[in-house]
Amino acid sequence: MNTAAAFADFRTYPLISALAGVQTLADSVLVKWADDRVSPFHHQWLRDNCPCPQCVYTVTREQVLEIVDVAQDLMPDNAGIDSEGCLSVAWQDGHSSRFDPGWLRAHAYDDESRAERQQRKPKARLWHSDLQLPVFEYQALMSDSDALLQWLLAVRDVGLTQVRGVPTEPGSLKLIAQRISFIRESNFGVLFNVQSKADADSNAYTAFNLPLHSDLPTRELQPGLQFLHCLVNDAEGGESIFVDGFAIADTLRLEAPEAFKSLCEIPVEFRNKDRHSDYRCLAPIIALDALGQVSEIRMANFLRGPFDASVEQMPKLYQAYRRFIAMTREPRFRLMQRLNPGELWCFDNRRTLHARNAFDPATGARHFQGCYVDRDELLSRILVLQR
Ligand code: OGA
Ligand code: ZN
Ligand code: ZN
Repeated sequence: MNTAAAFADFRTYPLISALAGVQTLADSVLVKWADDRVSPFHHQWLRDNCPCPQCVYTVTREQVLEIVDVAQDLMPDNAGIDSEGCLSVAWQDGHSSRFDPGWLRAHAYDDESRAERQQRKPKARLWHSDLQLPVFEYQALMSDSDALLQWLLAVRDVGLTQVRGVPTEPGSLKLIAQRISFIRESNFGVLFNVQSKADADSNAYTAFNLPLHSDLPTRELQPGLQFLHCLVNDAEGGESIFVDGFAIADTLRLEAPEAFKSLCEIPVEFRNKDRHSDYRCLAPIIALDALGQVSEIRMANFLRGPFDASVEQMPKLYQAYRRFIAMTREPRFRLMQRLNPGELWCFDNRRTLHARNAFDPATGARHFQGCYVDRDELLSRILVLQR
């Protein structure tokens, strides 16, 4: 990498292909690469992305230039390839810019380059009941950053992982969650204790069966990751159950498109209230991203408020809701496993729905600790580990 042109980022950009030719057009610079790709870069885009120390503060690597302070019709006096293989642009106003070819290729926006970037984006690997559960060892995750990265990639792409060999000391969960980053606190605490209690402020803190759900659907932003760490599990029952919510939503889209549409469009309110708090969130059960892909599931029957939809929509909403819940009960989607002391689940709470069977507290104690970490923290840790 050419240091003179490397100020704009903390990452490094490998040289994919060298610059082979540069041609200045009326509104853009046309770059030809050694592998014959052609990438136009508008003059404004190049000036906007100048990585020089005047345009980007070298300490933060954040931009100080605002493009509106440069003439809209600013033209290069000259654009060419310099002795180090960088794109060099001398502007009519006297400024000059140099672009590292690795960086430039990584940000090229010709159709082919953009399609390539789209292809390379991490994709959810959908799973069903036969998932080969990704399992990791606590000690390795605590001491080896490559093991940590492999775990985090599985959390990101599969959305369900198990870690074994975790100490059963209360609070141990904190140490491993902090290998990723900050824990997201909630009204249930930094760590929450999942135990059957007389004064339960959630059905989670009873011995009831908990149907498939996401945690905190009552918040505008549901926690990205959820951890459940088993300290004691002597009670009969209480097995953990998981489904890939994205796999169910995609199947629903194929098998019952009307129901899918209703769950994407009709908002449902989720509520969580006790003597001191009252959280409510109104949102559709299935969220789609800008490309129409399923990006989030929001679901917890025990936290749902009464449906409030138009008279015309109400029967459609019930039909869609029943269909979705019925699918979460289908064996083809469900993975069931009992969690033992010293094991923990770490899963994508906005994708993978979790449940537990009822347990019998008369047969023994059961104590899990849980916590949340936001998805931003996971993705940032992955990118830093990949640098
Ligand atoms: C929860 C929960 C699962 C369990 O506390 O939100 O889903 O196995 N617990 O107790
Ligand atoms: Zn500059
Ligand atoms: Zn839960």
